[in-house]
Amino acid sequence: MKWNEEHGLLPLAHFASMRATEPVAYQNGAWHVYRYEDAKAIFADPGRFSSEMSDSPSPDVPIEHSILRRDPPKHRQLRALVTQAFTPRAIEALAPRIETLAHELLDKAEARGGMDAIGDFAGPLPVLVIAEMLGIPSRDREQFKEWSDALVGTDYDRFMQCQREMSDYFGRIADERKRNPHDDLISRLVQAEADGSPLAPVELIGFCILLLVAGNETTTNLLGGALLCFDDRRDDWEAIRDDRSLLSGAIEETLRYCSPVLNMTRRVRQTAVVADRKLEAGEYVHLWIGSANHDEAVFERPDRFDIRRSPNQHLAFGHGIHFCLGAQLARLEARIALGALLDRFPNFRRDRTAPLERVDSSFVFGVKHLPVLLS
Ligand code: HEM
Repeated sequence: MKWNEEHGLLPLAHFASMRATEPVAYQNGAWHVYRYEDAKAIFADPGRFSSEMSDSPSPDVPIEHSILRRDPPKHRQLRALVTQAFTPRAIEALAPRIETLAHELLDKAEARGGMDAIGDFAGPLPVLVIAEMLGIPSRDREQFKEWSDALVGTDYDRFMQCQREMSDYFGRIADERKRNPHDDLISRLVQAEADGSPLAPVELIGFCILLLVAGNETTTNLLGGALLCFDDRRDDWEAIRDDRSLLSGAIEETLRYCSPVLNMTRRVRQTAVVADRKLEAGEYVHLWIGSANHDEAVFERPDRFDIRRSPNQHLAFGHGIHFCLGAQLARLEARIALGALLDRFPNFRRDRTAPLERVDSSFVFGVKHLPVLLS
């Protein structure tokens, strides 16, 4: 049986029923949008659908001051400061280092004959990469992982406590880099200016937190999702092993099929009509990327995992001005990590005796552990 049918981890039947019966639904005090075209149109309209969750974000929640949660013109200024670190050339330059990190993790797993593909590989790899980019000690990665989990989790007190801990942590490093700049992203950010003024401390800290969270949990879950899907379809795994040109398409299909970010939120700025429903200013809207990416109006046989799907215009990285800044980095990490596994462990398979359990989060999708056998 397929992993998703067996465990019902992805609510595909619920999404299909909502798309068919109530594509724009008012549930639990907010709007929920399930169809592809509606979600895409809202992503493309920051004038009517704001990314700012309140009119005066609290200084105690730095992530609310990051680019993810700002509208134009502030969004444009902040994004301009960081795009340089994420140009295709800058990202490709990271490839040799990512390769080394991936192989170091696999060396340890090989010595043991198996691994938890999440805890030992897909989890640490993106944390190590982003820690090096930012210029923060990778020995603190257990701490980053704990913070990332709390930020996507459901415990509000823990969320707030982590915002404070992360503010202290990044605040200290930023002060240190002001006095003693290194060749890293935090040093560039403390020196950077948005339209002539430096980043406010809360904006700088918000951006660091965003990168740590946006870049980790999501990429981990992309790798975990790919391994689940490939394990179900051994013929795909073998085809990719023999023809690496199939790998990029397989990664795109994983992004579509088990989208690591299931939904993103917007706040209605001006009254808007979506699929005959009237959304009033001030109301919140959840855009269900996980459902949009299975919309039968756009994707033929959407519940089939097809590594050769073309076109594959999924919304896994969002759409419009907030389109994921780290999309190329995530794709590169996935290409290198899965390529290394294919090279070294062609007989890799999931340990099906171990139960699958979903990460506790309503807006990211992934599994907590994924034990695999390597020989
Ligand atoms: C934005 C998904 C990896 C950094 C976004 C958005 C999505 C997304 C859906 C749009 C948010 C919105 O419209 O409100 C993903 C997925 C990833 C991934 C599925 C991995 C598979 C990364 C990585 C980084 C990153 C590796 C950086 C290291 C960002 C940033 C934004 C963003 C900074 C905000 C961009 C803006 O607001 O202009 N991501 N992401 N992401 N992502 Fe990613």
